[in-house]
Amino acid sequence: MIRTINISIPYKEFDTIKELESSDRELLLSAMEAAKNAYAPYSGFKVGAAVRLESNKIVNGTNVENAAFPSGICAERTALSGASSNYPGDNPVALALAAIYEQELSQEPVSPCGNCRQVIAEEETRNGRSIRIILGSKNKIRVIEKGSDLLPLQFSRDDLPVTPR
Ligand code: THU
Repeated sequence: MIRTINISIPYKEFDTIKELESSDRELLLSAMEAAKNAYAPYSGFKVGAAVRLESNKIVNGTNVENAAFPSGICAERTALSGASSNYPGDNPVALALAAIYEQELSQEPVSPCGNCRQVIAEEETRNGRSIRIILGSKNKIRVIEKGSDLLPLQFSRDDLPVTPR
């Protein structure tokens, strides 16, 4: 018996940052500001992330590139690692992302790479809380309510024979 299963994910699009609820607007503005601090001499693509924690603290991250290209890290993982390391137990509830190229905000929203989607999904599983993803750009803003929606059929702790401690 062969089955075809379709997966669809819900997300919202906004035309301008003004249409976002104020806490998301603040978070996206923080990601845009953070992008200026990126170290991206090889791609010139400066990405900024802003993670809101349950306590309402905002933790920023940027991409940090390296001459050994795979040693570089994305803005999302920098921010989430910083949050987890500095504020353990203060769970992320939202993550905003913005990118600057040649001094301009990107025309289209930047989508988290596969590695970052995996890390966002782990944070959600670990904390039992979904993380709202806000992807900014000049032309539109996308909002995805659950990071794990960006990674259907994900590999997770449930696939491992070991019990997490
Ligand atoms: N990058 C991020 O920081 N986040 C993303 O979601 C996409 C890509 C970085 C990695 C690299 O430094 C540069 O953007 C170009 O791929």
